[in-house]
Amino acid sequence: MSTLEIRDLQVSVKLPEGELKPILHGVDLTVKSGETHAIMGPNGSGKSTLAYSVAGHPKYEITGGSVTLDGEDVLEMSVDERARAGLFLAMQYPVEVPGVSVANFLRTAKTAIDGEAPKLRTWGGELRGAMERLHMDPAFAQRNVNEGFSGGEKKRHEIVQLELLKPKMAILDETDSGLDVDALRVVSEGVNRVRDTGDTGLLLITHYTRILRYIKPDHVHVFVAGRIVEQGGPELADKLEESGYERYVAGAGPARV
Ligand SMILES: Nc1ncnc2c1ncn2[C@@H]1O[C@H](COP(=O)(O)OP(=O)(O)OP(=O)(O)O)[C@@H](O)[C@H]1O
Ligand SMILES: [Mg+2]
Repeated sequence: MSTLEIRDLQVSVKLPEGELKPILHGVDLTVKSGETHAIMGPNGSGKSTLAYSVAGHPKYEITGGSVTLDGEDVLEMSVDERARAGLFLAMQYPVEVPGVSVANFLRTAKTAIDGEAPKLRTWGGELRGAMERLHMDPAFAQRNVNEGFSGGEKKRHEIVQLELLKPKMAILDETDSGLDVDALRVVSEGVNRVRDTGDTGLLLITHYTRILRYIKPDHVHVFVAGRIVEQGGPELADKLEESGYERYVAGAGPARV
């Protein structure tokens, strides 16, 4: 049983001139293994900033608050240490890694996270199985990570990683964006398989309720202008589908520039 605890998290983005622009203004969130949380909010509200801050992207400066995983201070850890501690981020825009094949990348990541290389006898089958379940052609194993992948192929590759790496906490940033209806179903089934193990806590970031038809969240958080402004159960997502974010945005004051 694992717990990710985010307390009063305040984050600024580092601008090229060296100035700091505040984006997150005090975020509180607790995610336990087996739970699925959805964070929904308009463009530019800071959802990806939250994901990157937890994962340790150097572009962001933590100016206040805390993040712990099972009581361990995540903010003190390097990006590698965070991954080894069991944190996983599926990025909104997965990066290309030229010169590194999918097969090599996954084996290296698995080895780093487990602290030992996966057994050769079983690993090939595990990899093929995960790719098959995500409807990825086995030929992808020999291609360079994300290089030339279509938007939907990149997202499916993220879920292959999720299934193989079995993290304690997974943040999926707009994993639904750019997916056609069939891919959305395949990706959602993958996420649900991970959820059903009960060993992983999931934080789904999305604008739309589309993916929440397939993956039922236990908790929904509405995120506007760098903070959580409302929380509820799955019914809150339906309400947002009808009414949009306007009433929250109006209450948040003028957009910060
Ligand atoms: N280098 C930068 N300079 C200025 N503003 C920045 C910079 N990087 C990020 N921001 C701003 O931070 C805010 C939050 O961005 P973020 O990507 O976290 O939003 P988001 O909620 O994920 O949006 P979306 O739904 O479009 O993915 C945005 O207004 C963005 O323009
Ligand atoms: Mg985003």
